[in-house]
Amino acid sequence: MISHLITNGINGSANIPGDKSISHRSIIIPSISNGICEINNILRSEDVFHTLNAFRAMGVRIEENQNNIIIHGKGLNSLEKPEDEIYLGNSGTSARLLTGLLSSQKFRSVLTGDKSLSKRPMERISEPLKKMNAKILTNNGTLPIIIESSNLVCSNIDLKIPSAQIKSGLLLASLNTNGETTIKEYKITRDHTETMLESFGAKIEVKKLENTKIIKIKGKKELTSKNISVPNDLSSSAFFIVSALINKNSHLILKNINNNPTRNGIILALKKMGANISLLNQRSNNNENICDIDVVSSKLKGCELGPEFADLMIDEYPILAIAASFANSPSIFRGLNELKVKESDRLKLILLNLQNCGVNCRVQNDDLYIFPSRNFNLKNNIIQTDFDHRIAMAFAIMGTKIGPLEIKDSESINTSFPTFRDEFNKLGGQIF
Ligand code: S3P
Repeated sequence: MISHLITNGINGSANIPGDKSISHRSIIIPSISNGICEINNILRSEDVFHTLNAFRAMGVRIEENQNNIIIHGKGLNSLEKPEDEIYLGNSGTSARLLTGLLSSQKFRSVLTGDKSLSKRPMERISEPLKKMNAKILTNNGTLPIIIESSNLVCSNIDLKIPSAQIKSGLLLASLNTNGETTIKEYKITRDHTETMLESFGAKIEVKKLENTKIIKIKGKKELTSKNISVPNDLSSSAFFIVSALINKNSHLILKNINNNPTRNGIILALKKMGANISLLNQRSNNNENICDIDVVSSKLKGCELGPEFADLMIDEYPILAIAASFANSPSIFRGLNELKVKESDRLKLILLNLQNCGVNCRVQNDDLYIFPSRNFNLKNNIIQTDFDHRIAMAFAIMGTKIGPLEIKDSESINTSFPTFRDEFNKLGGQIF
Protein backbone atom coordinates (compact mmCIF):
# COMPACT_ATOMS: atom_id res chain seq x y z
CA MET A 1 0.00 0.00 0.00
CA ILE A 2 1.33 3.45 -0.87
CA SER A 3 0.31 6.53 1.06
CA HIS A 4 0.75 9.79 -0.85
CA LEU A 5 1.01 13.42 0.16
CA ILE A 6 -2.23 15.35 0.42
CA THR A 7 -2.59 19.08 0.03
CA ASN A 8 -6.25 19.98 0.55
CA GLY A 9 -6.79 18.61 4.04
CA ILE A 10 -9.09 15.89 5.37
CA ASN A 11 -12.71 16.96 5.22
CA GLY A 12 -16.14 15.50 5.86
CA SER A 13 -17.76 12.86 7.99
CA ALA A 14 -16.18 9.39 8.17
CA ASN A 15 -17.86 6.06 8.89
CA ILE A 16 -15.79 4.55 11.66
CA PRO A 17 -16.59 0.86 12.29
CA GLY A 18 -17.82 -0.65 15.55
CA ASP A 19 -15.53 -0.94 18.55
CA LYS A 20 -13.29 -4.02 18.42
CA SER A 21 -13.14 -4.72 22.16
CA ILE A 22 -16.91 -4.38 22.59
CA SER A 23 -17.55 -6.48 19.46
CA HIS A 24 -15.58 -9.45 20.85
CA ARG A 25 -17.47 -9.22 24.14
CA SER A 26 -20.77 -8.90 22.24
CA ILE A 27 -20.22 -12.39 20.85
CA ILE A 28 -18.69 -14.05 23.89
CA ILE A 29 -21.13 -12.94 26.60
CA PRO A 30 -24.43 -13.54 24.71
CA SER A 31 -23.11 -16.98 23.62
CA ILE A 32 -23.11 -18.11 27.27
CA SER A 33 -26.28 -16.25 28.28
CA ASN A 34 -29.90 -17.30 27.98
CA GLY A 35 -31.99 -15.85 25.19
CA ILE A 36 -31.61 -14.10 21.90
CA CYS A 37 -29.26 -11.18 21.36
CA GLU A 38 -29.46 -8.91 18.34
CA ILE A 39 -26.17 -7.05 17.82
CA ASN A 40 -26.11 -3.92 15.73
CA ASN A 41 -23.01 -2.28 14.30
CA ILE A 42 -20.66 -5.11 15.23
CA LEU A 43 -17.17 -4.71 13.75
CA ARG A 44 -16.92 -7.03 10.75
CA SER A 45 -13.18 -7.62 10.75
CA GLU A 46 -10.91 -10.67 10.79
CA ASP A 47 -10.25 -10.58 14.54
CA VAL A 48 -13.93 -10.46 15.40
CA PHE A 49 -14.78 -13.22 12.92
CA HIS A 50 -12.27 -15.47 14.66
CA THR A 51 -14.20 -15.05 17.91
CA LEU A 52 -17.50 -15.60 16.09
CA ASN A 53 -16.27 -18.77 14.36
CA ALA A 54 -14.96 -20.11 17.67
CA PHE A 55 -18.46 -19.96 19.19
CA ARG A 56 -20.03 -21.48 16.10
CA ALA A 57 -17.52 -24.32 16.41
CA MET A 58 -18.76 -24.78 19.98
CA GLY A 59 -22.35 -25.22 18.82
CA VAL A 60 -23.75 -21.69 19.30
CA ARG A 61 -26.34 -20.70 16.70
CA ILE A 62 -25.27 -17.38 15.21
CA GLU A 63 -27.16 -15.75 12.33
CA GLU A 64 -25.28 -13.23 10.22
CA ASN A 65 -27.56 -10.75 8.49
CA GLN A 66 -26.75 -7.67 6.48
CA ASN A 67 -27.70 -5.28 9.27
CA ASN A 68 -27.17 -7.32 12.40
CA ILE A 69 -25.92 -10.50 13.98
CA ILE A 70 -28.21 -12.66 16.09
CA ILE A 71 -26.89 -14.96 18.79
CA HIS A 72 -29.05 -17.69 20.30
CA GLY A 73 -27.56 -18.24 23.74
CA LYS A 74 -28.41 -21.27 25.89
CA GLY A 75 -26.64 -20.58 29.13
CA LEU A 76 -23.40 -21.02 31.02
CA ASN A 77 -22.98 -24.73 30.35
CA SER A 78 -24.29 -24.93 26.80
CA LEU A 79 -21.02 -24.83 24.88
CA GLU A 80 -20.06 -28.05 23.09
CA LYS A 81 -16.63 -29.55 22.54
CA PRO A 82 -15.26 -28.18 19.25
CA GLU A 83 -14.32 -30.86 16.70
CA ASP A 84 -11.02 -29.19 15.83
CA GLU A 85 -8.48 -26.82 17.26
CA ILE A 86 -9.80 -23.26 17.52
CA TYR A 87 -7.75 -20.98 15.24
CA LEU A 88 -7.74 -17.34 16.38
CA GLY A 89 -5.59 -15.71 13.67
CA ASN A 90 -3.99 -12.50 14.95
CA SER A 91 -6.42 -11.82 17.76
CA GLY A 92 -4.89 -11.47 21.24
CA THR A 93 -8.24 -10.49 22.73
CA SER A 94 -9.85 -13.72 21.49
CA ALA A 95 -6.92 -15.78 22.82
CA ARG A 96 -6.83 -14.30 26.34
CA LEU A 97 -10.61 -14.13 26.84
CA LEU A 98 -11.24 -17.63 25.47
CA THR A 99 -8.46 -19.17 27.56
CA GLY A 100 -10.34 -17.92 30.63
CA LEU A 101 -13.77 -18.97 29.47
CA LEU A 102 -12.70 -22.43 28.24
CA SER A 103 -10.78 -23.31 31.38
CA SER A 104 -14.12 -23.61 33.22
CA GLN A 105 -15.81 -25.82 30.59
CA LYS A 106 -16.31 -29.55 30.78
CA PHE A 107 -14.35 -30.38 27.63
CA ARG A 108 -10.79 -30.19 26.34
CA SER A 109 -9.94 -27.50 23.81
CA VAL A 110 -6.89 -26.31 21.89
CA LEU A 111 -6.26 -22.68 20.85
CA THR A 112 -3.92 -21.76 17.99
CA GLY A 113 -3.05 -18.53 16.16
CA ASP A 114 -0.99 -16.99 13.36
CA LYS A 115 2.76 -16.35 13.48
CA SER A 116 2.46 -13.08 15.38
CA LEU A 117 -0.11 -14.31 17.93
CA SER A 118 1.96 -17.46 18.46
CA LYS A 119 4.82 -15.31 19.75
CA ARG A 120 2.76 -13.34 22.26
CA PRO A 121 2.91 -14.11 26.00
CA MET A 122 0.10 -16.31 27.30
CA GLU A 123 1.38 -17.13 30.83
CA ARG A 124 -0.04 -13.78 31.87
CA ILE A 125 -3.48 -15.40 31.58
CA SER A 126 -2.64 -19.08 32.19
CA GLU A 127 -0.75 -18.46 35.47
CA PRO A 128 -3.56 -16.62 37.35
CA LEU A 129 -6.03 -19.17 35.99
CA LYS A 130 -3.92 -21.97 37.42
CA LYS A 131 -4.49 -20.38 40.85
CA MET A 132 -8.15 -21.24 40.22
CA ASN A 133 -7.19 -24.86 39.47
CA ALA A 134 -7.26 -24.48 35.68
CA LYS A 135 -5.39 -27.15 33.72
CA ILE A 136 -3.62 -25.32 30.92
CA LEU A 137 -0.59 -26.36 28.94
CA THR A 138 1.21 -23.68 26.90
CA ASN A 139 4.02 -24.05 24.42
CA ASN A 140 6.75 -22.38 26.51
CA GLY A 141 4.32 -19.65 27.49
CA THR A 142 2.85 -19.18 24.01
CA LEU A 143 0.20 -20.72 21.74
CA PRO A 144 -0.81 -23.44 21.00
CA ILE A 145 -2.57 -23.75 24.34
CA ILE A 146 -4.24 -26.95 25.49
CA ILE A 147 -7.03 -26.46 28.02
CA GLU A 148 -8.21 -29.58 29.89
CA SER A 149 -11.59 -29.81 31.53
CA SER A 150 -11.41 -28.78 35.19
CA ASN A 151 -13.59 -27.74 38.11
CA LEU A 152 -12.29 -24.32 38.97
CA VAL A 153 -12.21 -22.99 42.52
CA CYS A 154 -12.85 -19.37 43.38
CA SER A 155 -9.85 -17.35 44.41
CA ASN A 156 -8.42 -13.91 45.26
CA ILE A 157 -6.33 -12.67 42.39
CA ASP A 158 -4.08 -9.60 42.21
CA LEU A 159 -3.54 -8.46 38.64
CA LYS A 160 0.24 -8.09 38.32
CA ILE A 161 0.11 -6.76 34.75
CA PRO A 162 -2.43 -4.06 33.90
CA SER A 163 -4.43 -5.78 31.16
CA ALA A 164 -8.12 -5.79 30.30
CA GLN A 165 -7.59 -9.05 28.46
CA ILE A 166 -6.29 -10.82 31.58
CA LYS A 167 -8.97 -9.30 33.80
CA SER A 168 -11.67 -10.30 31.31
CA GLY A 169 -10.34 -13.86 30.92
CA LEU A 170 -10.50 -14.25 34.72
CA LEU A 171 -14.00 -12.79 34.93
CA LEU A 172 -15.23 -15.19 32.24
CA ALA A 173 -13.63 -18.14 34.07
CA SER A 174 -15.27 -17.04 37.33
CA LEU A 175 -18.75 -17.02 35.79
CA ASN A 176 -18.83 -20.81 35.73
CA THR A 177 -17.04 -21.34 39.07
CA ASN A 178 -18.74 -21.95 42.43
CA GLY A 179 -18.30 -19.19 45.00
CA GLU A 180 -17.00 -15.64 44.85
CA THR A 181 -13.84 -14.68 43.00
CA THR A 182 -12.10 -11.38 43.81
CA ILE A 183 -9.92 -9.63 41.27
CA LYS A 184 -7.82 -6.64 42.36
CA GLU A 185 -6.51 -4.26 39.78
CA TYR A 186 -3.96 -1.55 40.64
CA LYS A 187 -4.07 0.34 37.36
CA ILE A 188 -6.99 1.29 35.17
CA THR A 189 -7.80 -0.99 32.24
CA ARG A 190 -10.80 -0.86 29.93
CA ASP A 191 -13.96 -2.00 31.71
CA HIS A 192 -16.20 -3.20 28.86
CA THR A 193 -16.44 -6.75 30.30
CA GLU A 194 -17.61 -5.65 33.75
CA THR A 195 -20.08 -3.23 32.18
CA MET A 196 -21.62 -5.82 29.87
CA LEU A 197 -21.69 -8.59 32.51
CA GLU A 198 -23.54 -6.28 34.88
CA SER A 199 -26.14 -5.42 32.28
CA PHE A 200 -26.63 -9.16 31.54
CA GLY A 201 -27.46 -9.76 35.22
CA ALA A 202 -24.15 -11.16 36.55
CA LYS A 203 -23.60 -10.97 40.33
CA ILE A 204 -20.71 -8.57 40.03
CA GLU A 205 -19.69 -5.79 42.39
CA VAL A 206 -17.06 -3.21 41.59
CA LYS A 207 -15.50 -0.98 44.29
CA LYS A 208 -12.88 1.68 43.81
CA LEU A 209 -10.52 2.46 46.69
CA GLU A 210 -7.99 5.16 45.82
CA ASN A 211 -5.85 3.54 43.10
CA THR A 212 -7.26 0.04 43.49
CA LYS A 213 -10.31 -1.44 41.86
CA ILE A 214 -11.80 -4.52 43.53
CA ILE A 215 -14.13 -6.69 41.47
CA LYS A 216 -16.12 -9.43 43.18
CA ILE A 217 -18.03 -11.89 41.04
CA LYS A 218 -20.24 -14.79 42.17
CA GLY A 219 -20.18 -17.77 39.84
CA LYS A 220 -22.92 -20.10 38.57
CA LYS A 221 -25.42 -17.28 38.14
CA GLU A 222 -27.11 -17.64 34.74
CA LEU A 223 -27.05 -14.51 32.54
CA THR A 224 -29.93 -13.08 30.53
CA SER A 225 -29.32 -11.80 27.03
CA LYS A 226 -30.02 -8.25 25.89
CA ASN A 227 -29.72 -6.56 22.53
CA ILE A 228 -26.47 -4.68 21.95
CA SER A 229 -25.70 -1.66 19.86
CA VAL A 230 -21.92 -1.41 19.46
CA PRO A 231 -20.58 2.17 19.48
CA ASN A 232 -17.89 3.16 16.98
CA ASP A 233 -14.24 2.59 17.81
CA LEU A 234 -12.19 5.42 19.31
CA SER A 235 -8.93 3.56 18.57
CA SER A 236 -9.80 3.40 14.86
CA SER A 237 -10.98 7.04 14.96
CA ALA A 238 -7.59 8.14 16.28
CA PHE A 239 -5.93 7.68 12.86
CA PHE A 240 -8.47 10.00 11.25
CA ILE A 241 -8.37 12.50 14.11
CA VAL A 242 -4.59 12.86 13.88
CA SER A 243 -4.71 13.12 10.08
CA ALA A 244 -7.11 16.08 10.39
CA LEU A 245 -4.98 17.71 13.10
CA ILE A 246 -1.69 17.60 11.18
CA ASN A 247 -3.04 18.46 7.71
CA LYS A 248 -3.94 22.10 7.04
CA ASN A 249 -7.50 23.04 5.97
CA SER A 250 -9.06 19.97 7.60
CA HIS A 251 -12.42 19.64 9.31
CA LEU A 252 -13.61 16.21 10.30
CA ILE A 253 -16.72 14.91 12.05
CA LEU A 254 -16.91 11.41 13.53
CA LYS A 255 -20.24 10.23 14.89
CA ASN A 256 -21.26 7.80 17.62
CA ILE A 257 -17.76 7.22 19.00
CA ASN A 258 -17.15 5.29 22.22
CA ASN A 259 -15.71 7.66 24.82
CA ASN A 260 -15.25 5.26 27.71
CA PRO A 261 -13.18 7.02 30.43
CA THR A 262 -11.03 3.90 30.92
CA ARG A 263 -9.60 4.25 27.43
CA ASN A 264 -9.97 7.81 26.15
CA GLY A 265 -6.38 8.84 26.94
CA ILE A 266 -5.75 9.74 23.29
CA ILE A 267 -8.27 12.59 23.46
CA LEU A 268 -6.74 13.88 26.72
CA ALA A 269 -3.22 13.60 25.30
CA LEU A 270 -4.04 15.37 22.03
CA LYS A 271 -5.86 18.14 23.91
CA LYS A 272 -2.75 18.56 26.09
CA MET A 273 -0.87 19.05 22.81
CA GLY A 274 -3.23 21.88 21.85
CA ALA A 275 -5.52 19.91 19.53
CA ASN A 276 -8.76 21.56 18.54
CA ILE A 277 -11.11 18.64 19.29
CA SER A 278 -14.70 19.03 20.52
CA LEU A 279 -16.74 16.19 21.99
CA LEU A 280 -20.37 16.83 21.10
CA ASN A 281 -23.70 15.22 22.05
CA GLN A 282 -22.21 13.26 24.94
CA ARG A 283 -24.64 10.50 25.88
CA SER A 284 -24.77 6.97 27.24
CA ASN A 285 -25.95 3.69 25.72
CA ASN A 286 -25.87 0.41 27.68
CA ASN A 287 -23.62 2.20 30.19
CA GLU A 288 -20.99 3.03 27.54
CA ASN A 289 -20.28 6.76 26.99
CA ILE A 290 -20.70 7.89 23.41
CA CYS A 291 -20.13 11.21 21.66
CA ASP A 292 -19.59 12.84 18.28
CA ILE A 293 -16.11 14.22 17.63
CA ASP A 294 -15.38 17.40 15.73
CA VAL A 295 -11.74 18.04 14.78
CA VAL A 296 -10.03 20.86 12.90
CA SER A 297 -6.39 21.34 11.85
CA SER A 298 -4.33 22.52 14.81
CA LYS A 299 -0.87 23.77 15.67
CA LEU A 300 0.34 21.06 18.03
CA LYS A 301 2.89 21.45 20.80
CA GLY A 302 4.87 18.62 22.38
CA CYS A 303 3.95 17.16 25.77
CA GLU A 304 5.16 14.84 28.48
CA LEU A 305 2.92 11.90 29.37
CA GLY A 306 3.54 9.75 32.44
CA PRO A 307 3.04 5.95 32.53
CA GLU A 308 -0.53 6.43 33.81
CA PHE A 309 -1.45 7.52 30.28
CA ALA A 310 -0.25 4.17 28.90
CA ASP A 311 -3.07 2.50 30.85
CA LEU A 312 -5.65 4.74 29.18
CA MET A 313 -4.40 4.61 25.60
CA ILE A 314 -1.97 1.72 25.07
CA ASP A 315 -3.16 1.09 21.49
CA GLU A 316 -2.82 4.73 20.42
CA TYR A 317 0.94 5.36 20.85
CA PRO A 318 1.79 4.60 17.19
CA ILE A 319 -0.52 7.36 15.96
CA LEU A 320 0.30 9.69 18.88
CA ALA A 321 3.97 9.40 17.87
CA ILE A 322 3.00 10.62 14.38
CA ALA A 323 1.16 13.61 15.89
CA ALA A 324 4.22 14.39 18.06
CA SER A 325 6.45 14.36 14.96
CA PHE A 326 4.55 17.42 13.66
CA ALA A 327 4.44 19.37 16.93
CA ASN A 328 6.52 22.49 17.47
CA SER A 329 8.33 21.17 20.57
CA PRO A 330 9.61 17.81 21.90
CA SER A 331 7.49 15.09 23.52
CA ILE A 332 8.27 12.37 26.05
CA PHE A 333 5.94 9.39 26.46
CA ARG A 334 6.87 7.34 29.53
CA GLY A 335 6.33 3.75 30.61
CA LEU A 336 5.72 2.05 27.26
CA ASN A 337 6.98 -1.45 28.12
CA GLU A 338 3.63 -3.12 27.29
CA LEU A 339 3.98 -1.83 23.70
CA LYS A 340 6.67 -4.46 23.15
CA VAL A 341 4.21 -7.37 23.42
CA LYS A 342 1.42 -6.19 21.16
CA GLU A 343 0.74 -7.46 17.61
CA SER A 344 4.41 -6.52 17.03
CA ASP A 345 7.12 -4.94 19.15
CA ARG A 346 5.49 -1.56 18.62
CA LEU A 347 8.11 0.42 20.50
CA LYS A 348 10.83 -0.94 18.20
CA LEU A 349 8.80 -0.34 15.03
CA ILE A 350 7.72 3.19 15.99
CA LEU A 351 11.38 4.08 16.55
CA LEU A 352 12.69 2.35 13.42
CA ASN A 353 10.07 3.79 11.09
CA LEU A 354 10.15 7.31 12.54
CA GLN A 355 13.93 7.33 12.18
CA ASN A 356 13.61 6.13 8.57
CA CYS A 357 11.17 8.99 8.00
CA GLY A 358 13.84 11.38 9.27
CA VAL A 359 12.39 12.10 12.71
CA ASN A 360 14.88 12.62 15.51
CA CYS A 361 13.73 10.25 18.28
CA ARG A 362 15.03 7.73 20.79
CA VAL A 363 13.90 5.17 23.35
CA GLN A 364 15.43 5.13 26.80
CA ASN A 365 14.16 2.91 29.64
CA ASP A 366 10.89 2.25 27.76
CA ASP A 367 10.29 6.00 27.40
CA LEU A 368 9.92 7.43 23.89
CA TYR A 369 11.46 10.84 23.13
CA ILE A 370 10.49 12.69 19.95
CA PHE A 371 12.29 15.87 18.84
CA PRO A 372 10.36 17.20 15.87
CA SER A 373 11.87 19.51 13.29
CA ARG A 374 10.46 21.24 10.22
CA ASN A 375 12.63 19.27 7.81
CA PHE A 376 12.14 15.58 7.34
CA ASN A 377 15.32 14.06 6.04
CA LEU A 378 13.66 10.91 4.67
CA LYS A 379 16.10 7.98 4.79
CA ASN A 380 13.92 5.13 3.60
CA ASN A 381 10.33 5.36 2.42
CA ILE A 382 9.54 1.70 3.08
CA ILE A 383 7.63 1.13 6.31
CA GLN A 384 8.20 -2.16 8.10
CA THR A 385 5.02 -3.22 9.93
CA ASP A 386 5.59 -6.88 10.90
CA PHE A 387 1.90 -7.37 9.99
CA ASP A 388 0.76 -4.96 12.71
CA HIS A 389 -2.43 -3.12 11.72
CA ARG A 390 -1.87 -0.11 13.97
CA ILE A 391 1.71 0.46 12.77
CA ALA A 392 0.43 0.24 9.17
CA MET A 393 -2.40 2.76 9.70
CA ALA A 394 -0.26 5.17 11.74
CA PHE A 395 2.44 5.36 9.04
CA ALA A 396 -0.20 5.63 6.30
CA ILE A 397 -1.16 8.88 8.08
CA MET A 398 2.52 9.88 8.20
CA GLY A 399 2.52 9.43 4.41
CA THR A 400 -0.11 12.18 4.02
CA LYS A 401 2.57 14.67 5.17
CA ILE A 402 5.85 13.25 3.86
CA GLY A 403 4.72 10.63 1.32
CA PRO A 404 4.91 8.64 -0.76
CA LEU A 405 5.52 5.97 1.86
CA GLU A 406 5.23 2.30 1.01
CA ILE A 407 3.51 0.44 3.84
CA LYS A 408 4.56 -3.21 3.79
CA ASP A 409 2.17 -6.08 4.66
CA SER A 410 -0.73 -3.66 4.99
CA GLU A 411 -3.34 -6.42 4.68
CA SER A 412 -3.05 -6.64 8.48
CA ILE A 413 -5.40 -3.63 8.55
CA ASN A 414 -8.23 -6.10 7.87
CA THR A 415 -7.89 -7.38 11.43
CA SER A 416 -9.48 -4.21 12.82
CA PHE A 417 -10.50 -1.71 10.11
CA PRO A 418 -11.13 -3.29 6.68
CA THR A 419 -12.63 -0.07 5.29
CA PHE A 420 -9.77 2.17 6.44
CA ARG A 421 -8.42 3.04 3.00
CA ASP A 422 -11.79 3.65 1.32
CA GLU A 423 -13.08 5.78 4.18
CA PHE A 424 -9.88 7.79 4.32
CA ASN A 425 -9.79 8.41 0.59
CA LYS A 426 -13.43 9.66 0.69
CA LEU A 427 -12.21 12.47 2.96
CA GLY A 428 -9.34 13.50 0.70
CA GLY A 429 -6.77 10.79 1.42
CA GLN A 430 -4.52 9.38 -1.31
CA ILE A 431 -3.79 5.83 -0.23
CA PHE A 432 -3.56 3.24 -3.00
C1 S3P B 1 -7.96 -5.17 24.71
C2 S3P B 1 -7.06 -4.86 25.70
C3 S3P B 1 -5.73 -4.31 25.46
C4 S3P B 1 -5.62 -3.73 24.06
C5 S3P B 1 -6.19 -4.64 23.02
C6 S3P B 1 -7.66 -4.90 23.29
C7 S3P B 1 -9.26 -5.76 25.08
O1 S3P B 1 -4.76 -5.32 25.60
O2 S3P B 1 -4.26 -3.46 23.76
O3 S3P B 1 -6.06 -4.08 21.71
O4 S3P B 1 -10.17 -5.79 24.22
O5 S3P B 1 -9.41 -6.17 26.23
P1 S3P B 1 -4.10 -5.70 27.03
O6 S3P B 1 -5.14 -6.31 27.87
O7 S3P B 1 -3.00 -6.66 26.71
O8 S3P B 1 -3.58 -4.40 27.57
